[in-house]
Amino acid sequence: MSAEIIDGKAFAAKLRRDVADQVARLKADHQLKPGLAVVLVGDDPASQVYVRSKGKMTVEVGMNSFEHRLDPSIKETELLALIEGLNADPKVHGILVQLPLPDHLDEDLVINAIDPAKDVDGFHILNVGLLGTGQKAMVPCTPLGCLMMLRNHHGSLSGMNAVVIGRSNIVGKPMAQLLLGDSCTVTIAHSRTRDLPDVVRRADIVVAAVGRAEMVPGDWIKPGATVIDVGINRVDAPEKGEGKTRLVGDCHFESCAAVAGAITPVPGGVGPMTIACLLANTLTACCRANGLPEPADLTA
Ligand code: GUN
Repeated sequence: MSAEIIDGKAFAAKLRRDVADQVARLKADHQLKPGLAVVLVGDDPASQVYVRSKGKMTVEVGMNSFEHRLDPSIKETELLALIEGLNADPKVHGILVQLPLPDHLDEDLVINAIDPAKDVDGFHILNVGLLGTGQKAMVPCTPLGCLMMLRNHHGSLSGMNAVVIGRSNIVGKPMAQLLLGDSCTVTIAHSRTRDLPDVVRRADIVVAAVGRAEMVPGDWIKPGATVIDVGINRVDAPEKGEGKTRLVGDCHFESCAAVAGAITPVPGGVGPMTIACLLANTLTACCRANGLPEPADLTA
């Protein structure tokens, strides 16, 4: 293996410490405590794990955590009424509705009902538009975490060829906007892309966000490229015993690490950064709501 391992876990721990310091200062100087409300509809096991982990880390950095676990059969009007209440609640500075929602709920309608100033996921159409036009926006947490790791590793990304595999609203599209904002030449590849291996081989930066276990092999990677693996896929691991599983990314780690210059592991890469960025966004939202200067250096 030749690639440097980008330690997202350590990077995220440092960002959470920085957030915790700023939260303590807000309390001491302004008697303010940032609050994050997380709304989970239904009982999807993976979403439950994420929500529990978000709640725990929110409290650990000194913020208020408000959890709303709702029955999967909740009516759209009831969910919208809950969001209205959170929008109006001065103790709530950030609102996150865990996706995906059950099929009977209109995801766009629900997300766009969140006050854009409290939209710490950066999914509201206003924030999407602000990001796309290079204006100050709430930036989606997973791509923000990826960008921070890339900047930390490379310094300037200017002029680099970046290929984002996956065109989701949560990761692929905002990731491409952020890389463009840092002056990369950006390609968004997806399931209909022709000659995907050739497209990926031209990349100095590969961001894989498709949700397909180990679909990117090492021979697609340009020697020395940086690989950011957003995938979190659970696969069978019979070598660990019957019925056991393990987490893998969208990239085949061993073969990619043999060729890449740097790579994020799964777990311990992008995942921890997502939650740390969510907390940083909540702190930012709290500062803005109270007319205080933003802690600019946190996610810069
Ligand atoms: N589901 C998967 N990733 C995310 C995320 O970043 N935010 C929300 N709200 N739901 C998700």
